[in-house]
Amino acid sequence: MTASQAELLAEVLAEIGARAAAEADRGRVADYIPELAAIDPSQFGLSVVLADGSQHSVGDAEVPFSIQSVSKVFALAIALGRLGDRLWSRVGREPSGLAFNSILQLEHEQGIPRNPFINAGAIVVTDAALAGHAPREYLGELLRFIRAAASDDDIHINDAVARSETETGHRNFALAHYMRSHGNLENAPELTLGAYFHQCAVEMTCTQLARAGRFLMGAPGMPRMVAPGRVRRINALMLTCGHYDGSGDFAYRVGLPGKSGVGGGILVIAPGRASIAVWSPGLNAQGNSKLGTEAVETLARRMGWSVF
Ligand code: DON
Repeated sequence: MTASQAELLAEVLAEIGARAAAEADRGRVADYIPELAAIDPSQFGLSVVLADGSQHSVGDAEVPFSIQSVSKVFALAIALGRLGDRLWSRVGREPSGLAFNSILQLEHEQGIPRNPFINAGAIVVTDAALAGHAPREYLGELLRFIRAAASDDDIHINDAVARSETETGHRNFALAHYMRSHGNLENAPELTLGAYFHQCAVEMTCTQLARAGRFLMGAPGMPRMVAPGRVRRINALMLTCGHYDGSGDFAYRVGLPGKSGVGGGILVIAPGRASIAVWSPGLNAQGNSKLGTEAVETLARRMGWSVF
C-alpha cells in the first residue's frame, strides 16, 4: 500500500475510534446467555490486516471477547473439508430472512435449515464436522485451525460461557431435537450441542480475529487453509447470510462479506485487500453489533472497499 493510503487508513481509524468513544446509543448487550449480559458495553475495538501483511488497530483491539456466531465460519470451513459438497444435502445456501434462532422454516422444509449461519444450520454443520469423532477431538481441530489461521496459539475456549449457554440454550435444544426427528442430526442433540456451545465460546481479540480471517482474503502470501474456490463460496455465504435478517442491510451499507456474533464481534473480508475484525458488545435489532456495523460502513466507504 502506498504512503498516502496508509495515511488515509490511519486517519479513518482515528476518526472511527473517536466517534465510537463518543457514541451515546450503543445498542443492547445480548442477555439470553447470562455470562454475556455482564459485558461492559462501553468497549470498542477494530483491527485491519492488509494484503501487504501489515496490521492496523484502534480502541480495545487487544481485549478478548466471545466470538459466538463468528465461529460458524471456521466450523463451515472444517465441515466442507471433511464432507465436501455432500454437506449441501443437509443444509441450504439461501438467506432465511428470519432471526438467527428461528425454528419457523424447519417444519415446511423437512428439517433442512436454510443456510450454515443461522443457528439451525450451524448446529447441522457442527454435527457434520464431528463425523464420528468425540466433541473434544472436533474442538481440538477447530482450535488448531483458528490458531493456525491467526498465527497465534494464545486462543482458547471460555468454559464458563459454554456452561452458561448450555444451561439456557432451550431454543437450540429445540432446533436440534426437531432436526433429529427429521433425520438431519447424526449425533444425540446433547453431544452436538455440547460441541456447538463450546465452539461459540471461543474467545479472541480483534487483532487475532482479523489475522484469522486472512485465509478468506484470497490474497497472495496469506495463510492458505482452504482451496481458492471454497474461499469464494464461503465469502458468498457471508455476504448473503452472515447477518441473518440483517444481511441485506449489511450488504447495502457495507458492501462486503461479513459474519457477526451476539458477543458483538464481526469478521469482514474485503477480498484481495483486507481482513477486518470489529467488536462492540451492544447489538442492533437484528442481533448484530451496532457500533461495529457503523464502523465498518465508514471504513469501507472511506477506503473505497466493496465487492460491487
Ligand atoms: O447459539 C447461540 O445462540 C449463540 N451461541 C450464537 C448466536 C449468535 O452469535 C447469533 N449472532 N448474532
